[in-house]
Amino acid sequence: MSRLRYLTAGESHGPALTGILEGLPAGLPLQAEDINRDLARRQQGYGRGGRMKIEQDTAEILSGIRFGLTLGSPLSLLIRNRDFASWSKRMQADSGGPDPHPVTVPRPGHADLAGGLKYAHLDDLRNVLERASARETAIRVGLGGVARALLRDLGIQVGSFVRSIGSADGNVLEPPSVSPLKEDAESLALRADLTETRALDEDSSRRFVAAIDEARKRRDTLGGVVEILATGVPVGLGSHVHWDRKLDGRIAQAMMSIPAIKAVELGEGWKAARGYGSQTHDPILWGDLGLRRSSNNAGGLEGGVTNGQPLVIRIAMKPIATVPAALPSVDLSTLQSVPAHVERSDTCAVPAAGVIAEAILALVLADAVLECLGGDTMSSLRAPMARLRIAARADWGQVFLLGPMGSGKSAVGRVIAARLGRRWVDLDSEIEQQAGISVAEIFARKGEAEFRSLEADALVAAAAAPSLSVIALGGGAAQNEAAWRAMRATGVTFCLTARPEELARRLSQSDRAWSERPMLAGRDPLERLRELCRARQPFYSRADLCLDTEGLDPGAAALAAIGMLRSLRSPIAVRASRGPLESEIKMQGNSAPDDEA
Ligand SMILES: Cc1cc2nc3c(=O)[nH]c(=O)nc-3n(C[C@H](O)[C@H](O)[C@H](O)COP(=O)(O)O)c2cc1C
Repeated sequence: MSRLRYLTAGESHGPALTGILEGLPAGLPLQAEDINRDLARRQQGYGRGGRMKIEQDTAEILSGIRFGLTLGSPLSLLIRNRDFASWSKRMQADSGGPDPHPVTVPRPGHADLAGGLKYAHLDDLRNVLERASARETAIRVGLGGVARALLRDLGIQVGSFVRSIGSADGNVLEPPSVSPLKEDAESLALRADLTETRALDEDSSRRFVAAIDEARKRRDTLGGVVEILATGVPVGLGSHVHWDRKLDGRIAQAMMSIPAIKAVELGEGWKAARGYGSQTHDPILWGDLGLRRSSNNAGGLEGGVTNGQPLVIRIAMKPIATVPAALPSVDLSTLQSVPAHVERSDTCAVPAAGVIAEAILALVLADAVLECLGGDTMSSLRAPMARLRIAARADWGQVFLLGPMGSGKSAVGRVIAARLGRRWVDLDSEIEQQAGISVAEIFARKGEAEFRSLEADALVAAAAAPSLSVIALGGGAAQNEAAWRAMRATGVTFCLTARPEELARRLSQSDRAWSERPMLAGRDPLERLRELCRARQPFYSRADLCLDTEGLDPGAAALAAIGMLRSLRSPIAVRASRGPLESEIKMQGNSAPDDEA
């Protein structure tokens, strides 16, 4: 059974769509904006019909959240159908009817005939088409927005773009451009949103627009192909052990549940069927950073399990079923041959299908994450998620220290770096060196926004540096999404904490004057520290590991931190770190007679 289950209800012209998502951990920060952004994205796209001008979808969150955090209880959403105002009599729940304008002529390609025969709705096919309509996908996009927020919090991003519309091909992605640091899947999707067809560039979009215009001129409709990607996906989601746990199968099923999707490709699926194995399978290499692959033809899945590479999925959407130059059909009330029923319809909905597919993939991946890691609370997911994320690495990668000022990042960090034999990087000092002035002066002269941008750049640069370091972030750096992407992609995050009273005590004993701490300037420092800790807690709580340093001197805190870091090490990392020892054992073994081996 799924860990994250959902149900939706609602007819296209009924009062509302509703959805329930069950199995979310408690403590996930969630805003209506996380949901509404994707609802608005689903409504965009060249080629849509008149309905999208009427509906401006926003979700009402009815349960499952309090003060911006999930409770662990079922989350329910409601999206009102504005069009219901014109349909209230014809779609009423109270007894009445029949509809004065029944639909009796099924559309080839739609659910009308098969659904009508199955549910004995031949007198009025509206009883079928109201639910078969892709309007239902709005609520799935809403629930998908919640799943996306969960994944984003854990460092996984989902996105999509349109590859082709009809026979018009767009420019596609070169594999190297989907690297976690250069462009993650969500940024890619937002780039695609900038064109009216969700193509990757204007040049491709112009070709798509021309194809849609041509179809409209012919009173016809078009489909196309969408590519969906997920980056930051750890090794180990899904399982090879049983058919219904294989993630490739679960993704394919979920994608096929989107109306009008008729084919799903994982990685280079179709191309692979025509090539040799040697050209298809992704070589496994060992390097300084650990295990890696030199290509991603598998699209991030082998044996039904994620392998740590980005997920690459393509879906084919058939042309819209309601063809304005109607196809032949039969009036079920007279059994006469007549043109099929036509109602207000899209010419092409491929751009919207991409946004729906992102939501669907987010729901499948969030389910797979929770199935794999368990977790009633977000905090209980952190360390197990980090363990998966670095499972193929030779080492933790960079170690990032975050936490409020006074939590011991510098004092403890220096000791951790020395003990691990790593470079020590204090991000504030790096920024000061590069700017040639102090942090307080940057704040005074250029303002906090400019400092935050310098801080994000310095963090991304430090994360990408080839040497392994222990990197201490300024107290506010963790509030930046780009910073989180860089940290998740290159290492582990460690938060040091203490109560605001203890932080204030430590700061008052430090060599630095209060005036050198611009975030505390001009106010009651303790009150300000309390405020800062409260505001930043949602970001600090994203860290893979967390240590309360109260009552610990820097040496003791550093040892505790190293122990906690070690608990994340994978068997591969342990193997990598024991290299010299094994070779010593082998040398001893070599001197022994064979029959004693
Ligand atoms: C975003 C989106 C919008 C759609 N809009 C329409 C539409 O306006 N008219 C139509 O006939 N079909 C539309 N469809 C497709 C039908 O919903 C779909 O073909 C129908 O439910 C039958 O299901 P099937 O194609 O999966 O067999 C749309 C699909 C999607 C994903």
